[in-house]
Amino acid sequence: MPLESRHLLGLESVPKKDIELILDTAVTFREIIDRPIKKVPTLQGKTVVNLFFESSTRTRISFELAEKRLSADVLNFTSSTSSLTKGETLKDTVRNIEAMKIDMVVIRHTAAGSPHYLTQLIESNVINAGDGSHEHPTQALLDMYTIKEKFGKLEGLNVCIIGDISHSRVAMSNIFGLLTVGANVAVCGPATMIPRHLEKLGVQVFHNLDDAIKFSDVLNILRIQLERGAASNFPSLREYSRFYGISKERLLKNKKDVLIMHPGPINRGVELSSDIADGSSSVILQQVTNGVAVRMAVLYLIGTRN
Ligand code: CP
Repeated sequence: MPLESRHLLGLESVPKKDIELILDTAVTFREIIDRPIKKVPTLQGKTVVNLFFESSTRTRISFELAEKRLSADVLNFTSSTSSLTKGETLKDTVRNIEAMKIDMVVIRHTAAGSPHYLTQLIESNVINAGDGSHEHPTQALLDMYTIKEKFGKLEGLNVCIIGDISHSRVAMSNIFGLLTVGANVAVCGPATMIPRHLEKLGVQVFHNLDDAIKFSDVLNILRIQLERGAASNFPSLREYSRFYGISKERLLKNKKDVLIMHPGPINRGVELSSDIADGSSSVILQQVTNGVAVRMAVLYLIGTRN
């Protein structure tokens, strides 16, 4: 059965069967990326354009590698060296790019809703690589893949997302995806960083980190997004770290062996200490590796759906 949508704009309305299809398909691609020759001809003849209007290391390189490993033709668009700097609009930019006959667009943009806007302008399949504080669906899918790889399941697991929830597209996509597959989802952070509507979605809210650690099988720790003004929500970074930073002492105090995740980039010493980020319970780099396989699965399922 193909995916219900020809785009991946967010996980809010993606059904459980589609999330499971993407995660199951990614298992095959995860095997392929461990082979000496990591390439398959699946998307030969298809052209994918990566439109990045905001900085990225992991997502951008991961999508490009995924596209190349599927044998697609890949074009990378960088806004700072494009005719956007001469005043061309997003609408004209994407319509001109599509006039060159492309098949798929991967977009990251600071404005929430940009990927949805593109679907009204162009015929190509659109994949959201992070739009403002709205959603980052492939990050949540790779997070879910990594949790499932460790525990063999998602249903019934206790997952707590810690930190700057209100500025986080990663948090929202994880919340939607994890609830859909039957995980128990919690968030933890200062009240100023947790949107009020989350409890209505079925998310448990903690303000005390020790309570959150006791609840959790998995801690998904978010970056404090200073570029989105997050620092105005607490007195100082040192204060934030004292109350919400994950350290070895904090975990030992709660006698808890818990899976440590972080989408990156990390503020070391703020939201988590280096010994935890690089420790044996951390799967931060496995998340990055799995991200390529998950993005290959998304590109394959969308690119071969039409
Ligand atoms: N996790 C994530 O989206 O990282 P980048 O901003 O480096 O792509």
